[in-house]
Amino acid sequence: MTAYGTPPHIARCPGPSTADIIARDGDNAPKHLMEETWVDLGSEDINFDRYTSQAFFDDEVENMWKRVWQWACREEDVPEPGDYFVYDVVDHSVLIVRDDAGQLHAYPNACLHRGTQLKPSNSCGSSKELRCPFHGISWKLDGQLGAFPCSWDFPHVDKQQWNLPELKLDTWGGFIWINFDQNAAPLQDYLDILPEHFKQWDLSKRFVAKHIRKRLPANWKACVEAFLESWHVLETHPQGIATVGDANSQYDVYGKHISRFVHLVGFPSPHIDRDMSEQDMLDALFGEGMVDELGDDKADKMRVPDGSTARETFAKHLQKTLGEAYERDFSHLSITETIDAIEYFVFPNTCIFPSLLFPMVYRFRPEGRNPDVSIFDLIFLQPNPESGVIPDPAEPIDLDVHDSFSQANVLDPGLALIYDQDTGNLEAQQRGFKSSFKKGQTLGNYQEVRIRHLHHSVDQYLDNQ
Ligand code: FES
Ligand SMILES: [Fe+2]
Repeated sequence: MTAYGTPPHIARCPGPSTADIIARDGDNAPKHLMEETWVDLGSEDINFDRYTSQAFFDDEVENMWKRVWQWACREEDVPEPGDYFVYDVVDHSVLIVRDDAGQLHAYPNACLHRGTQLKPSNSCGSSKELRCPFHGISWKLDGQLGAFPCSWDFPHVDKQQWNLPELKLDTWGGFIWINFDQNAAPLQDYLDILPEHFKQWDLSKRFVAKHIRKRLPANWKACVEAFLESWHVLETHPQGIATVGDANSQYDVYGKHISRFVHLVGFPSPHIDRDMSEQDMLDALFGEGMVDELGDDKADKMRVPDGSTARETFAKHLQKTLGEAYERDFSHLSITETIDAIEYFVFPNTCIFPSLLFPMVYRFRPEGRNPDVSIFDLIFLQPNPESGVIPDPAEPIDLDVHDSFSQANVLDPGLALIYDQDTGNLEAQQRGFKSSFKKGQTLGNYQEVRIRHLHHSVDQYLDNQ
């Protein structure tokens, strides 16, 4: 597969690498951010019917969605005994409950009598018991059978054993994870290097400051993949090309479930063919205005000090302004942890960004059994204030397929535009999958390795590996 160019293990965009730039920052960046772990997963085309076929989708449901760890909600969604949260995925519904002893449980959201959902889909709230709305049979929060009207008619039911069955449940990073597979390996094993890499980014000490939930017109994998590479910045987000090292981004793959990119901010794209001074760069960064708290008046006066860089000046400014806004001290953070887009993917459907400027979490779920429609949860995890008074998690704001992210009224206009651009390609892509005379898509070996890795992992589940 190397007949037409440089072999994939050495073919990289010319110019300094991500690791070079982080090293140039000269601060205490986590070492793992400079360690590259690209792997060669081949160069075969990825068939389009993986995105469109109902049979392939159904195979994914049976052999993948029912066997993977997936986060259902945040711990702060169910802080007190009696709190519950309903997580829906594909056509399954799961009831997350905190019992009187503070223990978390995940129950199939279905009555043992005639199957009625114990709590409505997409709901949350607080309840002393889990009482079926049809005939009133109840279960205690810990899953034991409670009140049973007309139990005389059920001599064939062993009341001692008629407890709600449980799914596997665990927590990490303030997220509550569930798994339908009773034989699933522990979550910690599944997450591979993630807990180690996130030692300095404790997501359990952050809260959901913004939450947008948008329907997207494409297969769940296409939706994830729109966010796994930064090559598309050049064409899809041309307004950002001066301030991001798009084609110099670093892509890493770890085991079966985790991949990562490190996308530099404050360093010009290799596609820029004019010289940019550090001051030009800083001006361009402030011009993007992705963070409300930056303030235009401050930006006007900001200069890169002698011997410093745009990255350092921008990072220090951000640590100060966001530190004041969030009531936290961020001066210990390295430049890359402050401003770069560092994205970890957790198979099959979650992206987690730990940096200060980009504190997002993405989750993509199929809508029911429809291979053509997905649901995108976009969450901003803001560090808890040091005062200890933590705001309640933000309620999700629902957007439909053709709504703009700006309609949620919680994003800066520059960021809303970026998400509109990212998701704006999906309908055309899903239609193109069905129209193509070519059987599948042809991926770049380096910049799109995370997409190939996702398919590789899907196949391992479908092949029962
Ligand atoms: S279906 Fe639940 S009590 Fe009858
Ligand atoms: Fe994008």
